[in-house]
Amino acid sequence: MTATVLVTGGTGTLGRLTTPLLRDAGFKVRVLSRSSRESADGIEYVVGDLTTGEGIDAAVAGVDKIVHLAGDAKGDDDKARTLVKAATKAGQPHIIYISVVGADQESFAYFGFKRGAEQVIADSGLPWTTVRATQFNDLVLTVAKAITKLPIALVPSGFRVQPIDARDVAARLVELTQGEPAGLVPDIAGPKIYTLKEIVSSYLAATGRRRPMVPLHLPGKAARTFRTGINLAPTHATGTHTWEAFLAERAS
Ligand SMILES: NC(=O)c1ccc[n+]([C@@H]2O[C@H](COP(=O)([O-])OP(=O)(O)OC[C@H]3O[C@@H](n4cnc5c(N)ncnc54)[C@H](OP(=O)(O)O)[C@@H]3O)[C@@H](O)[C@H]2O)c1
Repeated sequence: MTATVLVTGGTGTLGRLTTPLLRDAGFKVRVLSRSSRESADGIEYVVGDLTTGEGIDAAVAGVDKIVHLAGDAKGDDDKARTLVKAATKAGQPHIIYISVVGADQESFAYFGFKRGAEQVIADSGLPWTTVRATQFNDLVLTVAKAITKLPIALVPSGFRVQPIDARDVAARLVELTQGEPAGLVPDIAGPKIYTLKEIVSSYLAATGRRRPMVPLHLPGKAARTFRTGINLAPTHATGTHTWEAFLAERAS
């Protein structure tokens, strides 16, 4: 019998890449979104909100697996709690969760929310698999764009990133969805580590622009995270698409 998978966050950057792969792998795919959409291309859309809990019981009804990708700047622990509560009533679906590399480290609020969500899922009594990824190329590109908006580029000093392509993350999620519940699996990370200065330089070069770059020392826990490398996984550099290739695609 065809297994049904609910994808939360199926309308986001990662979710839009993951859902067609799941469908092509033979799953019946249902996507949760806060706004209504016409079902299309073999993918069913259902309305629900993991913050308010509205529509979640109906969304999880009859599913065999849940690929939980919905996320926000805050409250991912509460979203996981809402999802797990509904899923437990619905049966024993396997939850496959995307977290962030460094979530287990003492860091800033966002990583804390991701750690909280990991714990909720691990303690849920449901079969589960969690994988942590580094920052996606798309997010790093958004940061590079923001930094170069002004005539002078203020570049946070000491920041490092290991961008992974969301296509690599989507492919791994499909493997994990096809597999048995595996608990916390090895991190996935991009093929190379860059300073933020290198990222900004390459973005400027790819878009044919120049900006004087001025180092900016940022205070706070988030800045410390990106300076100390809590967000990096050098021994798990399994991503196949490079930042340079991604940039060339986006710039063209
Ligand atoms: N971006 C990165 O660099 C990165 C790195 C590691 C891990 N991750 C994790 O990967 C996941 C996906 O990231 P992304 O960049 O693809 O996210 P995104 O593009 O910002 O998309 C967020 C998704 O979450 C859904 N969502 C947000 N709040 C919701 C709520 N209250 N109820 C239901 N759905 C909700 C949105 O659906 P609607 O708007 O349609 O409702 C949307 O599909 C997140 O869990 C994130 O923490 C991201």
